[in-house]
Amino acid sequence: MSFTVTPSGAACGASIAGIDLARPLSESTVAALRRTWLEHKVLAFVDQDMNDDDLERFSLYFGQFAGDPYIASMEERPNIIELRRTADETSPIFADAWHTDWSFGETPPAATLLYGITIPPHGGDTDFINQEKALAEMPASLRQRLQGKMALHSAQRAYAPDGLYGKNDADRGRGFKILTSDSAYRVQPHPIIRAHPETGREALFGCIGYVLGFQDMDESQSMDLLMELYHWQTREEFQYHHHWQPGTLVIWDNRSVLHKANGGYEGYERVLHRTVIK
Ligand code: SIN
Repeated sequence: MSFTVTPSGAACGASIAGIDLARPLSESTVAALRRTWLEHKVLAFVDQDMNDDDLERFSLYFGQFAGDPYIASMEERPNIIELRRTADETSPIFADAWHTDWSFGETPPAATLLYGITIPPHGGDTDFINQEKALAEMPASLRQRLQGKMALHSAQRAYAPDGLYGKNDADRGRGFKILTSDSAYRVQPHPIIRAHPETGREALFGCIGYVLGFQDMDESQSMDLLMELYHWQTREEFQYHHHWQPGTLVIWDNRSVLHKANGGYEGYERVLHRTVIK
């Protein structure tokens, strides 16, 4: 099966047409999609009509399900999370800070897939930033200070009992269940500059969202460097803004992009189904 690829024109991202994700795909199509995904980092398949079986089948073309440490899956679908924000919800917008999924894990996931079901008339975009490009264009002086450094990742600011989604989040009508835990205090080092395990291309991995600081560095120096890095790696010229339509499936590469959700749709419901791949 052939498909057409239309690059977003931004720093990453492409739209794919001519392919029906509600049907099984051949091995050669899956291989071609994987190459396209690695090149563009974020693919958007528009005008799809997928149920949860289709989402699971398509997700598995990219690897095994990873399971989610801090978000309850749908009761009848242990590998799918329903990201639902109800129209009258007052809890903080979920995931509206730059991050790469579960970088606090020992082996963070390769891919995340999100399928748009109920999309508000405005707002609710998902933004991405190309971390290969951010590294390639980084001033040499900043790169030199980051080279060889281990970033200390942790889920604590989000998923610890006293984190953003902990006690303060309760009773504010969140449309899905967040499972906070003391395990979120665990700290996992990863190199801040990493070679992509499939392409070998170097990228920045992580940002202040889940990174507490750098190993073997004084706390205030560590924070200064983290903030300087953040200002560079989130520059507009490295970004792609994805505007959702119902029936769009997006897959992104957690190893080469950061992403974040956006609000701006108060009074409207937003529902997407998400899978994460090892
Ligand atoms: C996520 O980070 O998985 C959520 C993105 C979104 O809701 O736009």
